[in-house]
Amino acid sequence: MSSNSIALRLSGMFTLVALLVFVLIGGALYQQVDKGLGLLPEAELDARYSVLESALTRYGTPEHWAKINAKLKLLSEEDKRIRFWVVSGDAHYEYGDPDAQVRELALGPLGMRDLNLAEHPYPLKVLVSQLPAKDQRPPLRFLIAIDTETFYQTQHQLLMALISLAIVGVLLASALGYWVARIGLKPLIKLSQEAQRLAPPRLTGRLQLSPLPPELSQFVNSFNSTLERVEQAYSRLESFNADVAHELRSPLTNLIGQTQVALTRGRSAEHYFEVLQSNLEELERLRSIINDMLFLASADQGSKATKLTATSLASEVATTLDYLDFILEDAQVKVEVSGDALVSIEIAHLRRALINLLSNAVQHTAPGQMIQVRIEVQEHQVAIAVSNPGQGIANEHLPRLFERFYRVDASRSNSGANHGLGLAIVKAIALMHGGDVFVRSNAGINTFGIYLPV
Ligand SMILES: Nc1ncnc2c1ncn2[C@@H]1O[C@H](COP(=O)(O)OP(=O)(O)O)[C@@H](O)[C@H]1O
Ligand SMILES: [Mg+2]
Repeated sequence: MSSNSIALRLSGMFTLVALLVFVLIGGALYQQVDKGLGLLPEAELDARYSVLESALTRYGTPEHWAKINAKLKLLSEEDKRIRFWVVSGDAHYEYGDPDAQVRELALGPLGMRDLNLAEHPYPLKVLVSQLPAKDQRPPLRFLIAIDTETFYQTQHQLLMALISLAIVGVLLASALGYWVARIGLKPLIKLSQEAQRLAPPRLTGRLQLSPLPPELSQFVNSFNSTLERVEQAYSRLESFNADVAHELRSPLTNLIGQTQVALTRGRSAEHYFEVLQSNLEELERLRSIINDMLFLASADQGSKATKLTATSLASEVATTLDYLDFILEDAQVKVEVSGDALVSIEIAHLRRALINLLSNAVQHTAPGQMIQVRIEVQEHQVAIAVSNPGQGIANEHLPRLFERFYRVDASRSNSGANHGLGLAIVKAIALMHGGDVFVRSNAGINTFGIYLPV
């Protein structure tokens, strides 16, 4: 499994969180219990002392003292943790063989003290108290000591228990975390299996996970809309291929037919000349289709207008009109140009777009009518609009006219120079300059044009 597996990462995070929780809770618990444990020896010493106090102080005779000695001996035999010492100026009233270290402690301040003896690994807790003189007995220092070893052992056991609990807990959390993450990620796995079934050419399906977790719904929606666009592009590509083949077939059919007829029997040189001339026309048509397709292909691959020159649009329109002179004369239409703007463009491309727009306009304008070319400077762009009077174009066609091979009147296809790529090329050129195209049809005027950024 790769290191960026979501399940692994989630279980790693679970582990970290569990570790943090165990350390925090365990630490707090340990501190509380440790505080309680620390108080235990003192409490026990206090309790022992209060039981003995009255017996110790009631009488001061040597007989009584002998009884006390016996009792202390008995008590320390009963509980090995407990030791007693009595320190006095009078050796008769001493108990427990106090050595120099104990004596020093006994003569120091009263109260709870710690005593480190060489033979004990843990310190003794000692309660030092003063017994006042009574009868023949001088004042005494009375010491009760308790070995803290058991308390330290309990503390140590607690620590070990907490640490091993934390280790087991963390291991459990990481294993369970991994398991839970796998279950949580099931919808994702199902989704990717579904997505796998949707590879081309089976693009009609959509992701339909149900129930769809809300976290995935945005992803599924955007995936589905991407799929929608891919499907459209794919079907456009398929019909584009069919259109291309169709478009190439008719000139080829003409070429083959004419050539076959010419070859059936001996013909005059004049006849061959005519056939060759007609063939040349078909060949030129083929070449222009292929040129247009190559241009579109390079635009598709993202080629941009590079040889930019700041140019007056009005003068470019004028040059283009000069070029179309004969066609305009034939069609008996006039062109009126208004406005101007200086724009950075690749001149060859712009001319190609203008020729396409103007020759479309000429084709769709009745003789004696007028074509308008308006160059308008707008906020962030310049619009070049070519308008001609003509039959209205139904709204359903308008957004599709710039698609390849799309024609309003399908029967006009295969007629002469028109092969349905003119407006597609206009659009490609506009996009190459960072601009766009537009089309309007109202009140008997059809307007096609391009926006160029300034
Ligand atoms: N000026 C115009 N007036 C009306 N329809 C037009 C005009 N220009 C283009 N069209 C419509 O747009 C279609 C696509 O144009 P175009 O891409 O140049 O292809 P073609 O001219 O080869 O048919 C034309 O077939 C026509 O239906
Ligand atoms: Mg055209």
